[in-house]
Amino acid sequence: MNDTFLKACRGEEVPFTPIWIMRQAGRYLDQYQKVRKKVDFLTLCKTPDLTAEVTIQPIDILNVDAAILFSDILIPCEAMGMNLEFRESMGPVLSPAARDKNSIDRLSIPDPEDKMKFVMDTIRILRKELTGRVPLIGFAGAPFTTATYMIEGGTSRNFLNTKRMIYENPDLYKSLMDKITATITEYLKAQISAGAQAVQIFDTWGGIFSPGDFTEYALSYVIKIIEALKKWMKTENHEHVPIIYFVGETAGLLNEIRTSGADVFGVDWRINLDDAVKRLGGDVVVQGNLDPLSLFLPQDKIEERVKDVLSRASSAPGHIFNLGHGVVPQTPPDNVIALVEMVHRLSRR
Ligand code: CP3
Repeated sequence: MNDTFLKACRGEEVPFTPIWIMRQAGRYLDQYQKVRKKVDFLTLCKTPDLTAEVTIQPIDILNVDAAILFSDILIPCEAMGMNLEFRESMGPVLSPAARDKNSIDRLSIPDPEDKMKFVMDTIRILRKELTGRVPLIGFAGAPFTTATYMIEGGTSRNFLNTKRMIYENPDLYKSLMDKITATITEYLKAQISAGAQAVQIFDTWGGIFSPGDFTEYALSYVIKIIEALKKWMKTENHEHVPIIYFVGETAGLLNEIRTSGADVFGVDWRINLDDAVKRLGGDVVVQGNLDPLSLFLPQDKIEERVKDVLSRASSAPGHIFNLGHGVVPQTPPDNVIALVEMVHRLSRR
């Protein structure tokens, strides 16, 4: 198996820098669109054969060094009892918005093998199909990023309702966050038990906070999840599964993020990777950090940026190449294929 990705997560020596791409399965690929034409997004997420098929597409097409489970961070919100819809023009809609005590009290902490069995079934299929190929990454949203969708009822611009709840009714916010934290902890344990070989926690909206608020209202819950997972892996005698923590708009929060207990730190493009490594304390494995929109540059210019990221990453004990956020639907697939080839060629030791 190509285990370069797992070795890099552990800070071990690797023959080349491994690469995977956030949102590597998705609308920029014709092959994904073809599957999506047949079913709506949520049905796709709940049909393990199809989910497994689109998970593997980028492995075949791009030659990336890891697969990421195809799903969505909002799946657990439905399992907790909310209505979830993905509307073509609006993105996700969660109802009724979790803004008052009543709607939060009604939410449950689901048994993942019951309410989200299709995810674990997908993982079990994928581990068979990926045998001898690449490792499989599982994932979940971080409690705060998940909570923003539940409180706002969908995507938001300024997170007004979320911040109002935090500042006006911190106890209510805590009761929601405690439920989400318990749900995500059990969900990630179930993914690992089913065969996920690494997990990434997405805290896409963490960057909306001051460092102090980030620590109190987002990071503290992630720390709880990571501590619980590490303890559980030990007592289960499960091999340590690397935990990647990705925060959007990381730059101002690196001093805080370093205390998360994660094995790998996702970094976005708003900071140079060597500066990020320094602020994370030096002795850390990093993942990132090309601007996703730089994939619209001509390939010779992309190559210059790849060289720059690789050389800045050399100060870290481990580096996994990635974009600083998800690849966007308009991206030319040929440039993504070229990116993977460049990273492999330019980093070969
Ligand atoms: O990375 C992968 O290839 C795995 C699949 C994956 C999806 N969503 C598929 C998806 C992952 C890891 C996610 C995570 C996710 N989902 C995040 C965190 C990462 C990030 O990008 O910030 C967030 C915030 C969401 C919530 C979400 N899901 C939104 C806001 C939307 C609508 C906007 C959009 O991009 O369409 C989705 C839908 C979604 N999730 C799609 C895909 C492929 C598009 C659905 C379609 O096919 O129409």
